Amino acid sequence: MNHGLGNLIASGPLHQVVIGLSLSSMVVAIFIWVLEFSGWTISRRGFIRNNIPWDATTVALIAVSAAIYIAGRPIQFQLLPGVGGLNPTLCLAPVMAVLFGLPGAIGVTFSMPIGDTLSGALTVGSAAGFLGHTFLTWIPYKLTREPDFKSPRAVFSFFLWAVIVGPLFHILVVAGWLDFTHLLPTAVAWSALVWILLLNHTLIPSLTAPILIQVLYPFLKARGLFWRDRFRANAVSAGSETGPISDLVETPTAQDDRATAVVRRRATDFEVVVDDLRFRYPTAQQDSLNGVSFTIKKGQFVGITGPSGAGKSTLALCLRGLIPHVTSGWMRGNVIVCGLNTREVRPALLGEKVGLVFQDPEAQIIGLTVEEDLAFGPANYEWPREKILANLSPLLDSVRMHGTEKRETFGLSGGQKQRVALASALMMSPRLLIFDEPTSELDPAGKEEVFTVVRRLCNRLDMTVIMIEHAVEQLAEFADRIILMDQGRIVADDTPRVLFRNVDLFHRTEGERLPHVAELLFLLMQDGLISSDQFTAREGDAVELLSLLLQGPNV
Ligand SMILES: Nc1ncnc2c1ncn2[C@@H]1O[C@H](COP(=O)(O)OP(=O)(O)OP(=O)(O)O)[C@@H](O)[C@H]1O
Ligand SMILES: [Mg+2]
Repeated sequence: MNHGLGNLIASGPLHQVVIGLSLSSMVVAIFIWVLEFSGWTISRRGFIRNNIPWDATTVALIAVSAAIYIAGRPIQFQLLPGVGGLNPTLCLAPVMAVLFGLPGAIGVTFSMPIGDTLSGALTVGSAAGFLGHTFLTWIPYKLTREPDFKSPRAVFSFFLWAVIVGPLFHILVVAGWLDFTHLLPTAVAWSALVWILLLNHTLIPSLTAPILIQVLYPFLKARGLFWRDRFRANAVSAGSETGPISDLVETPTAQDDRATAVVRRRATDFEVVVDDLRFRYPTAQQDSLNGVSFTIKKGQFVGITGPSGAGKSTLALCLRGLIPHVTSGWMRGNVIVCGLNTREVRPALLGEKVGLVFQDPEAQIIGLTVEEDLAFGPANYEWPREKILANLSPLLDSVRMHGTEKRETFGLSGGQKQRVALASALMMSPRLLIFDEPTSELDPAGKEEVFTVVRRLCNRLDMTVIMIEHAVEQLAEFADRIILMDQGRIVADDTPRVLFRNVDLFHRTEGERLPHVAELLFLLMQDGLISSDQFTAREGDAVELLSLLLQGPNV
């Protein structure tokens, strides 16, 4: 056996240096575990929370990683008795660390002393296996990009951190410690042992690990088990602004801080400020909201429309603050409603200012009678009974449900139920009321009724309204402004008149149609029978225009 490197290290001044580096690395490894188990980790910005979710899944992932690693240890092909052999299981260390993150790293690393204890092989040399494995697992967990190997950068990142840098530290620790403790002669530790370690931790993993990851990553990702998604979800539900990944890859810059300051300033001028909002559900492959930004002034009635899956309901959950606190996922950007950043306030607190009415009135009516239903929300906020009763009747009047206090809710028609749900949302006198397809279950008369009531309240109470709707006729009639969404983005944001004049936009956006009158007037506009100034998407105005045309000299 050629002991070239071993002889060089043993005889030269390098020996003190590598032993020093090896021992310092072991101290660093201990520090890493103390830090991670205390809930902290290292990032470019210093020490930050590691956001590990200590739940049953985490414990199971640690146990599975450790069990596989321990079970595979006996599969070894001796190469050099007393030094080591080929152990194929070792190629799993980076796989588990890259896919499971910290739980994988803990399982693999701590399986070393546990396995040694179980097999009666726990010696002073076990410290090297344990602390060396820290680098084999912790470095890939912290530094590799998401292993979506369609991207060459992801492949490069995996090879760099998991197959080169991590193993080099491992080798430094193991060879240095066995040399330092005289468990192996210096020349053997730095030559034969190094080659065996390189075989096990670099050569074999470079061939097998990418294949395993390629197979396992989509499977785990689809089930929400990929560590970054789990940790992000935990970071978001804990109200922390950044998950581990964003600290390593997407470090906020001074420019971001300035942007946040600008958003906060704008929040005082607007009732709603949405700034570069992105959201991904834990099990989703792509973002459901993909950089949404808009503002709404107090008292505006804003319609939001767009094809199915455009992200409208997800946006509603963000505006009501249920994302990020109740619905988990990965959120970036900011949502400020009524001057409150949804990241910083719990949804219960926001509930006094922001109401959300869903599509299905059955799902939101809780009380057996109309009165009980309206009293439910304020009672939860411990409003005095007299105040609740004083608010009840005028509100029922305003939604045209006068005198129905004692009526049983299950006997009401769809339109009536929806108006009761609206009245319940209004009980808290919200500053912002969001509707998510409130009329989808109603007939045209019911739709018109709900829109009319909402528009009147918006004007009378100076309330801001966001109405998510496919009912373009009603939006054209009642909204001050319409936002058109598609695939998690805003594709247009304008007055109904300008928006619906852009016929191409609607013919292109699958699933969304123009109001019928807009289609008709567009054809007339093309034929030169009306000018673009005369164009309207409101039925009433269109009828007036058409009757003028019919009376005109051209006909
Ligand atoms: N809980 C969830 N988990 C994973 N993906 C989800 C979840 N909820 C919604 N999505 C996905 O997010 C995207 C946006 O959905 P969202 O419900 O916000 O759309 P929408 O515009 O409200 O559609 P619709 O008009 O049908 O109500 C869709 O691709 C949807 O499949
Ligand atoms: Mg929806």
